[in-house]
Amino acid sequence: MKVLVIGSGAREHALAWKLAQSAKVQRVFVAPGNGGTALDPTLENLAVTDLVALADFAAHERIGLTVVGPEAPLASGVVDLFRSRGLRIFGPTRGAAQLESSKAFAKDFMVRHGIPTARHASFDDATAAHAYVDRQGAPIVIKADGLAAGKGVVVASTLAEAHQAIDFMLSDNAGVSRNAGQALVVIEEFMAGEEASFIVVADGRHALALATSQDHKRIGDGDTGPNTGGMGAYSPAPVVTPAVHARVMREVIDPTIAGMAADGHPFGGFLYAGLMIDAEGQARVVEFNARLGDPEAQVLLMRLRSDLFDLLMAATDAQGDGVRDLELQWDRRSALGVVMAAGGYPASPRKGDVITGVPEGTQDMQVFHAGTVRREDGTLVSSGGRVLTVTALGEPLRAAQQRAYAALESIRFDGMQFRRDIGHRALSRIR
Ligand code: AMP
Ligand code: GLY
Repeated sequence: MKVLVIGSGAREHALAWKLAQSAKVQRVFVAPGNGGTALDPTLENLAVTDLVALADFAAHERIGLTVVGPEAPLASGVVDLFRSRGLRIFGPTRGAAQLESSKAFAKDFMVRHGIPTARHASFDDATAAHAYVDRQGAPIVIKADGLAAGKGVVVASTLAEAHQAIDFMLSDNAGVSRNAGQALVVIEEFMAGEEASFIVVADGRHALALATSQDHKRIGDGDTGPNTGGMGAYSPAPVVTPAVHARVMREVIDPTIAGMAADGHPFGGFLYAGLMIDAEGQARVVEFNARLGDPEAQVLLMRLRSDLFDLLMAATDAQGDGVRDLELQWDRRSALGVVMAAGGYPASPRKGDVITGVPEGTQDMQVFHAGTVRREDGTLVSSGGRVLTVTALGEPLRAAQQRAYAALESIRFDGMQFRRDIGHRALSRIR
């Protein structure tokens, strides 16, 4: 069978790498892919991003399964388009992807279906938003509705910060893709606790949990500085104990799958619940994503022993039982991934720096590429924000951490930045 992976990040490199390991998969195309997927002899890049052109390619090449990595094509309806042409694709429809693409949709959905989350109110009017914040007090969280590439959230510790964020988000230059042209802010109660990523494979009716994971969102050591897409991750997440896990399935995941189906948007695809877990083990939803996390995918797919292709074929089988009776096998060891980012990331990443010293992958270590391109002469250069994720397995977590950091020592590019403390939260909990 031929498989197509849509996207160009390290998440998509990891998806393609894992899918290529299936005995049933002859060929994996990655559109558009990156320098790492270009270098891998088991993968083939396809320089196409237009969704109609991708569907034409899938039909012409008889692609048996397409897997969508990032949110943007999902929110644009790539799944609806492929399905309308009889093409098999794993991911949520545009309607189901609103769980991520519209924060207002997600919050209304959670309230309607009794899924635990922070109290909130939505405003399109600045005066009313300012008055609400004055009544609620700080700390408080201000979010822009619509995909904002991680820039749409301000956790305001003072009222002044909150007021400033409201004015910015309701202004015309906030860089937010608006839903129906309307600027909206969502104002949320601040939740205290520890965050974890809870990701499941859903087939529209059932959900199968992947292993747990956590990422580090801030650019700097000690979780300081601006938010990024994620500077590193590890799996499992010790904060998700078996009791917390059972409670999340019961209180969050199952009602979400049932609620989306009842609302006419059955959710098929990776469903990612970003959770805040408090000291009592109560988990509340910070946000939903309609896709795998990045860099969570890199550590999860390193640990997954089951055949990913079989799993996603089951999840896209409209006739069968989907994922209802499946069980997944995981490497018992931990996995940890360190993101190497371009100089200037996240505000204004530099590009075009020559990358040297990327080590060959082993059984226990893989370097997944994101913002890299392979030039015609074979040199590898950086092309954007997050450049590489160096991912390793090891037991205990500290061994995975040491292996990942040892592997990245040989890698060089001008301006490179990476955190030196990925895993610190989990390590302090284990000790
Ligand atoms: P989001 O884009 O909604 O995931 O928000 C980005 C980050 O802001 C989250 O990963 C949290 O660290 C933080 N955050 C968002 N909402 C809240 C909340 N209600 N309470 C506390 N922290 C939050
Ligand atoms: N690592 C967080 C995300 O993928 O949204």
